[in-house]
Amino acid sequence: RTRLDDVYSVDHVLDKIKSANRILLITGAGISTSLGIPDFRSSQGFYSQLQNLGLSDPQEVFDLDFFHTDPNIFYSIAYMILPPEKTYTPMHAFIRLLQDKGKLLRNYTQNIDNLEMYAGIEKDKLVQCHGSFATATCVTCKYKVNGEDIFSSIREKVIPYCPKCDKARKKLLNSDDGYVPESYGVMKPDITFFGESLPSRFHDIIRQDLADCDLLISVGTSLKVAPVASIVESIPPGIPQVLLNRDPIDHCSFDVTLLGYCDDAASYLCNRLGEEWNLDHPLYDKIRGP
Ligand code: OAD
Repeated sequence: RTRLDDVYSVDHVLDKIKSANRILLITGAGISTSLGIPDFRSSQGFYSQLQNLGLSDPQEVFDLDFFHTDPNIFYSIAYMILPPEKTYTPMHAFIRLLQDKGKLLRNYTQNIDNLEMYAGIEKDKLVQCHGSFATATCVTCKYKVNGEDIFSSIREKVIPYCPKCDKARKKLLNSDDGYVPESYGVMKPDITFFGESLPSRFHDIIRQDLADCDLLISVGTSLKVAPVASIVESIPPGIPQVLLNRDPIDHCSFDVTLLGYCDDAASYLCNRLGEEWNLDHPLYDKIRGP
């Protein structure tokens, strides 16, 4: 990609946020960690907590074939990433502020915690690239339920079964050979597993959003998973790209990088953007200084 001629600084980012009205925001697990939800690839992250499962790669817990072969594996650990309800972080509040000021073109989130909803991000402004816990679907008959309907099973680490498939499942169990495929009638949260396509909404609008955006901000993601990661390199030349992340990202190029906790970055940016940029969040405490 063609680099910008100018050397960008934080002041340029502030000016750009002020003038932009079509910001494309990519978010990942790092925007929810301040609520105690682990991210995936950090040393204390979700994948490092799965060492004892004996998987060759911890990402297999989100592998569709693995799920069909043995849904017990997923349901033995899913409680660890079950989202808290009715809460969100200062960074989510910042995204809401961008929306309220008419500056948000779209938030492409890789998060499955659905916390954007509690922050008041409109459905139209959001693409949940990897689905979410908001709904769940029976792998056999495709019957859909509210995600919350299976939360108690997830907390108790038991497999939730489809009420519509119950009779047929019992019939199979009581048949001569008693054979029931492991995943028969199992409810699966509508999270995009490896081996599944992203929701069609992603493919429907990404091309136009890439053409329309006037600023890219990537927050709290290691940008390791395609195709979301490739959004960064697909941004048209001349569109400034900003990274807000705790750890540096070496495999993508950004015009400005602010390393640190994203809640602090949100707070800092609002403080610098001026009086009318007030984060509506109980944890918002303006930080001073450079
Ligand atoms: P990762 O765990 O790969 O990356 C999280 C990034 O957030 C890391 O670079 C951290 O440095 C950064 N981070 C953590 N806490 C932060 C904080 N408070 N402030 C700022 N940055 C922080 O998570 P994702 O990139 O979101 O798929 O992972 C992408 C996908 O991989 C996920 O959607 C998931 C996983 O497989 C599914 O859930 C299906």
